[in-house]
Formats: sequence, C-alpha cells, structure tokens
Amino acid sequence: MRCHRFKCLLAFVCFVSVTWIKSVHRDAVPPVMQTLYERLLAAEERGVEVNRNLSSILEQLRNLSKAETLNSTKQPTGDPGQQIHLQPNIYFYMPHLRRHSDSLVPNVVLGQGRRGVSMVLGVPTVKRTKQSYLVSTLQSLLFNLSPSQRQDLLIIVFVAEVDSDYVNSIAQAVSKNFPTDVQSGLLEVVSPSQFYYPDFSNLTETLGDSKERVKWRTKQNLDFSFLMLYAKDKGTYYVQLEDDVVAKEGYYDAMKTFADQEASKPWIYLEFSQLGFIGKMFRTRDLAMITDFFLMFHRDKPIDWLLDHILWVKVCNPEKDAKHCATQKASLKQRYKPSLFQHVGLHSSLPGKLQPLKDKDFGKQTLYFPHINPPAALNSSLQHYQQHSLQRAYRGEDFFWALTPVKGDYIIIQFPQPIHITGFLFRSGNTENFGDKMNNTTVEVLPSNGSTQDEESERYTRVGEFVDGVAAGTIEDTLQPVSALRLVVHSNSDVWTVMSEIYIKV
Ligand SMILES: *[C@@H]1O[C@H](CO)[C@@H](O)[C@H](O)[C@H]1NC(C)=O
Ligand SMILES: *[C@@H]1O[C@H](CO)[C@@H](O)[C@H](O)[C@H]1NC(C)=O
Ligand SMILES: *[C@@H]1O[C@H](CO)[C@@H](O)[C@H](O)[C@H]1NC(C)=O
Ligand SMILES: *[C@@H]1O[C@H](CO)[C@@H](O)[C@H](O)[C@H]1NC(C)=O
Ligand SMILES: *[C@@H]1O[C@H](CO)[C@@H](O)[C@H](O)[C@H]1NC(C)=O
Ligand SMILES: *[C@@H]1O[C@H](CO)[C@@H](O)[C@H](O)[C@H]1NC(C)=O
Ligand SMILES: *[C@@H]1O[C@H](CO)[C@@H](O)[C@H](O)[C@H]1NC(C)=O
Ligand SMILES: *[C@@H]1O[C@H](CO)[C@@H](O)[C@H](O)[C@H]1NC(C)=O
Repeated sequence: MRCHRFKCLLAFVCFVSVTWIKSVHRDAVPPVMQTLYERLLAAEERGVEVNRNLSSILEQLRNLSKAETLNSTKQPTGDPGQQIHLQPNIYFYMPHLRRHSDSLVPNVVLGQGRRGVSMVLGVPTVKRTKQSYLVSTLQSLLFNLSPSQRQDLLIIVFVAEVDSDYVNSIAQAVSKNFPTDVQSGLLEVVSPSQFYYPDFSNLTETLGDSKERVKWRTKQNLDFSFLMLYAKDKGTYYVQLEDDVVAKEGYYDAMKTFADQEASKPWIYLEFSQLGFIGKMFRTRDLAMITDFFLMFHRDKPIDWLLDHILWVKVCNPEKDAKHCATQKASLKQRYKPSLFQHVGLHSSLPGKLQPLKDKDFGKQTLYFPHINPPAALNSSLQHYQQHSLQRAYRGEDFFWALTPVKGDYIIIQFPQPIHITGFLFRSGNTENFGDKMNNTTVEVLPSNGSTQDEESERYTRVGEFVDGVAAGTIEDTLQPVSALRLVVHSNSDVWTVMSEIYIKV
C-alpha cells in the first residue's frame, strides 16, 4: 500500500507541475516554448490518465482491504476473549493463512476466558505413539496449590493437532481428571484452526536434519508461536512447559517471587529448568516480538536456536568475539536454581527419538510431610511396599506406600490411653505418585466412653472422608477422649496408595 501511495504522490506532483507551467505560459508566449508546451500538454494528459488509473487501483485496493477486514473480524465463537489479535506480518511468513478467514481462530474446547492472572503456563501436547504423560503433568502443576494461587494462574493445554476426535479426547480426559479446575477457568484446552498448518510435505532440508526432523521442528515453531499468541493477552508472565514434566512443589511462589525480584532488569527470559525450552518465562508484553521472530524463521531453525538468535540480534556486536557475545547475552536471561521442572518423558514427541534428558539441578522432591504424632499401635490390612511402612510414615520418617487397596481394607491407629484429639489430616498421593490416592475411604473415631455392649467395630463414628486424596477435620467434644482412629476403604481401587502425610493433632 505504501508503495502505491508513493507512486500516486509522484503522479500528483507531476500533474501539479505541468499545470503550473501551463499557467506561466498564458502570460507571455515565447515561440521557442511552443513545442515544449505542446509536449507538456500531452504529458499532462497522460499524467491525468495515470492519475486516474492509480486512483482506480487505489480504490480497488481499498475495497479489497475492506473485504479482508470484514472477513477477519467475523468470529465464529462470538467471544472476543478467544480471538488471537492478528498480526498482519504473519501473512507474509505464512501466506497459506490468507486462504481461510478463520485460519488463526483458536478452537477453545475448554475455557472460561480467564484473563489478568500473574502467570500463564503453556503446555503444548501432541499425539504420541508411546506413553502420554499429560494428566500426570497437570496433576503435578496443580498439586497443593492454594485457592489464591489457583485464582492467579491460567494453564493452557494446547493440543497441537487438527484431528478433532483426538482433541476432544484430550479435553475429555482433562475434564474427567480436573473437573473443578476446568469449571473455575484455571484449565483451558485449546487447539489451532484446521487451516493453521501449512503443507509440510516439501520443506527444505537444512542444517543436516532429516525431512522428518525438519517437519517436526518447523511444526514446533508454529505450535509454540500459536500458543504464545493465544496466551499473550491473558496475564503478566508466560511460562513455556511441555506435556511430560513434573513440577517441584512450591514452584508457583518460587517463580513469582523470582520474577518480581528481577522485574527491574532487562531480561528477555528467566530459566527455571536447564532443559531445552522447558520452564522458560517471558513477559507477555514481549511475546509479540518473540513470535514474530519465530514465525519469520520458522522453516529455518529449531526453536531454541531461534530464541538464542533473538538475544544475539539484540546485544551481540559482530565485530567482537564470541566471549563478548556470550557475556552480553547472559544479561538478557537469568537462571533460577534449583530447577523447578524435571523431564519425565523418555519418548520424545518425535517418533523413535528417545530423550532420557534429566535436569541435574532439579534435586530431590519432598515426598512426605513429617509430623510428631502421639504414640499409638498401628494395624492395617494393607500390604506395604519395600521400606515404606505405615509405622515409618506415622513417625514422620517416610511415606506409606501400599499395594492396591480393596473394599474392606483398613488402617487402625490405637492409642494406649484414651486421648483428646482436636483434629486430623491424612494426605494421599505425592509429587512422584499423584494418582496414588485413597478412593472412597472414610475416617472414623472410637470414643472411649462408647457403650461396651456393642461390637467394637459398631462403635466407630464417621468423622470425615477423603476428597481428592485428602481427609482433614476436627473431632467434636462429645466423642472425646478417643481410643482409636481408623480409615476404612469402601471400594476397590485401580491403583496403589501413597500416604504422604499423617497428622494427629492433640
Ligand atoms: C490506464 O488504464 C487503461 C485501461 O485500464 C489502459 O488502457 C491505459 O494504458 C492506462 N494508462 C496508463 C497511462 O497506464
Ligand atoms: C469499490 O466499492 C464500491 C462500493 O462499495 C463500488 O461502487 C466500486 O465500483 C468498487 N470499486 C472497485 C474498483 O471495485
Ligand atoms: C471473504 O469471505 C468470502 C466468503 O467467506 C469470500 O468469498 C471472499 O473471497 C473473502 N474475501 C477475501 C478478501 O478474503
Ligand atoms: C510444494 O511443491 C509443489 C510441487 O512441487 C508446489 O506446487 C508447491 O508450491 C510447493 N509448496 C511449497 C509450500 O513450497
Ligand atoms: C490387627 O487387626 C487384626 C484384625 O482386627 C487383628 O487380628 C490383629 O491381631 C491386629 N494386630 C495387632 C498387632 O493389633
Ligand atoms: C460420651 O460422653 C459425652 C459427654 O462427655 C456424651 O455426650 C456422649 O453421649 C457419650 N457417648 C456415649 C456413647 O455414651
Ligand atoms: C463408596 O463405596 C460404597 C460402598 O461400596 C458405595 O455404595 C458408594 O457408591 C461408593 N462411593 C463412591 C463415590 O464411589
Ligand atoms: C474409585 O472408586 C470407584 C468406585 O467407587 C471406581 O469407579 C474408580 O475407578 C476408583 N478410582 C480409582 C482411582 O481407583
């Protein structure tokens, strides 16, 4: 458009100057000027015609862009919060997007349009030929988050596939496993439009990568860019993750505190893991620039190299050496230790590629929460695994890990003397085995003054049950003092059980 406008301006200047010469001519007519005048007159007519032609081209262009704007503002979902704000540049790098007006409209399968959070976590996922870790990755991210942290967070699962059956199956798995977090808008499941991806069949093989690998890395560039564009208006910070990671407990506060502490520095990203792109945090206000860069070179290099090139472009001086460049680049990134995300997947999303990469700085996870509990005799029908016994868990030395519970299984905590208990907390599952939770299990107390005529097992009173792996509560005065507490399993479980916290409050 700009170039046409410029031509138009030229034509206009030409037209004005001819008119000016003509007006000069009228006052005095030097005979030598006669031929020149006639030629100028002809030129003027051509100028007028060119001008007219240019105006008509301009009008056509205007009509076209009007039509385009109309098309691109048409929103099938009708919710402005779910629309990526188009960047016109994207069309230069991906011309196929022009063929369909909704090629950039995200398909929001689950989501409540949550915005204004401190942190947005992007979890891209693709179909894998082997194991899927997505649900346990999400369990890890959501494990033990407080209600206020849950409100200040958005987790976007980006299913980078256009097979709608597959996308819906992921959405179903997420809804089934995390109904409350989907309901609250904390968890979203989004996929790209079916017209987003270009034809990957004839990419140029570069950097010695095979055809398959070039396709994989090109698609990854497009996937991450789409996800970032979708996320950029939804919060202050954006963190790129993958679908096969485990997060350290307390990761949310650690990241937020570190980002706030580094807020005045000019970083482009903060690193919370040293593996590839996992755990890189960006300011959402930088994402437009970053995705522009990724899209500009999406066919040329893998995404982690492109990210490094952004730093290079920003601060390196080609006349200085590599060491100088490294120092300069280091000023645009800050690394947090220890690492907060560990890679769990062994199978890469690139078929056949194994990636047993582990972050050495991740360290050990907290797998149990010790408490000092009153002395008690413990008895259980559950069979423990290895050294993870109930006794050690009760003493705060380990977690209890037991083989698959069945209906009727129990744990009894019997006190040598009746004692006054104010409350209790039982937590099942831990950061390595989120799923190993107590299922349909109640907490019951045996009051010491209960009638001795009844069978002992009849005299237990129900005081709580496990909800999402945790049973916590108080014991009212009428049941005090207490002789024993017991847990009773009411249905068969599909999985083993881990008891990571036992707390009898006296
Ligand atoms: C203006 O457009 C007409 C038809 O579109 C064409 O015949 C003519 O050559 C054009 N004139 C100039 C000066 O480009
Ligand atoms: C542009 O659109 C107007 C009406 O919207 C129409 O009258 C005109 O012919 C169109 N011009 C071109 C060059 O298509
Ligand atoms: C706008 O959309 C209509 C129908 O969806 C299509 O016929 C037309 O070519 C589109 N226009 C542009 C400029 O893409
Ligand atoms: C892919 O190759 C076909 C045939 O060789 C060609 O027509 C098409 O334009 C190419 N597509 C791209 C994106 O280069
Ligand atoms: C544990 O409970 C079972 C069944 O109630 C009982 O037979 C067994 O003697 C108890 N063991 C201990 C050590 O209390
Ligand atoms: C136990 O004692 C409390 C008062 O101390 C009483 O309210 C309650 O009914 C007693 N329970 C039984 C089963 O006797
Ligand atoms: C828990 O177990 C009881 C008894 O087996 C059963 O009636 C009930 O439906 C179960 N509850 C759930 C939530 O599975
Ligand atoms: C929990 O129990 C219910 C039946 O009460 C069963 O359908 C479900 O699969 C169990 N879940 C796990 C994780 O064991």
